[in-house]
Amino acid sequence: MKHKIAVVGAGNVGATAAMRLAEKELGDVVIIDILEGVPAGKALDLTEAAPIEKHDAKITGVTGDYSAAADADIVIITAGIARKPGMSRDDLLATNMGIVSGVAKSIAEVAPESILIIVSNPLDAMCHAAFEASGFPKNRVIGMAGVLDSARFRAFIAMELNVSVENTHAFVLGGHGDTMVPLPRYSTVAGIPITELLSPAKIEAIVQRTRNGGAEIVGLLKTGSAYYAPASAAVEMAEAILKDKHKVLPCAAYLEGEYGIKDLFIGVPTKLGAAGIEEIIEINLTGAEAEALQHSADAVRALVQDMARLKG
Ligand code: NAI
Ligand code: 2OP
Repeated sequence: MKHKIAVVGAGNVGATAAMRLAEKELGDVVIIDILEGVPAGKALDLTEAAPIEKHDAKITGVTGDYSAAADADIVIITAGIARKPGMSRDDLLATNMGIVSGVAKSIAEVAPESILIIVSNPLDAMCHAAFEASGFPKNRVIGMAGVLDSARFRAFIAMELNVSVENTHAFVLGGHGDTMVPLPRYSTVAGIPITELLSPAKIEAIVQRTRNGGAEIVGLLKTGSAYYAPASAAVEMAEAILKDKHKVLPCAAYLEGEYGIKDLFIGVPTKLGAAGIEEIIEINLTGAEAEALQHSADAVRALVQDMARLKG
């Protein structure tokens, strides 16, 4: 049977994700937005590309009608406002909290067994909003950030060493923000740790560029934030789940004591399969790495507390 994937938010990330989902024939795709005409228009445009792209995914777009997402296997939530120059991800908190909570509640009514992949920012805080509003178990609420941040890290390693991106692996943990924790010791080229291949100064420069990866693109685009790589990252997660691949990917997951962190979504290595998050993998961290992860967790916790205050 064909899978069904709902993408909420027909903007840059949502529409690009819908395109990649369809082109990979991962299932039929439903796009939902509040805008009149836009989701239907983008769905029709993507449908008209299908004969050229050679796929048979059915793509539909609707305005505000959540019944279209009934019994979806996966729901990718990209609804919200995006960063503009001068805005931090945290500036988005109040607006996107309301949007993501409303979306998650509506999805829980029509697709109670679905797996949520959250994209909207500030990412880790929005996972909390979706977790609370949906009432879903923790394995079915997953945040997309680590795959994107690690892909940026990998792209920069490949550029620096002039090697294929396919040879690169990287791990970026922590919250999706300035406190994220790229882990050079666990980042490799064909299995060789980059600490053996690059000087500490070069590694530090790549780490900083990775931390600044979202802002670098906002600075160039000026009217919005990145979407090609974010869409690819969300779709890689969806594919791992739909194909039950048991794939190890860094994702924002709800921790209950792992890494010494409790009751908080934050980026850690996870194993993704048909059940969503099948396992949280605990890797050994040095004192400095563990401290950086705790620092990042503190930043996420502050946002979660801000959300609680905003809710009153
Ligand atoms: P966009 O502005 O192009 O699209 C957002 C869409 O959400 C718009 O079409 C808007 O009409 C829709 N929307 C707003 N309220 C809605 C509601 N209540 N229900 C359904 N749809 C609604 O923004 P873009 O570039 O697609 O980014 C989307 C979100 O993803 C932003 O919050 C952005 O910061 C975040 N993001 C997160 C990344 C990550 O690594 N986690 C990476 C890139 C973007
Ligand atoms: C990014 O990292 C804006 O969070 C978004 O590109």
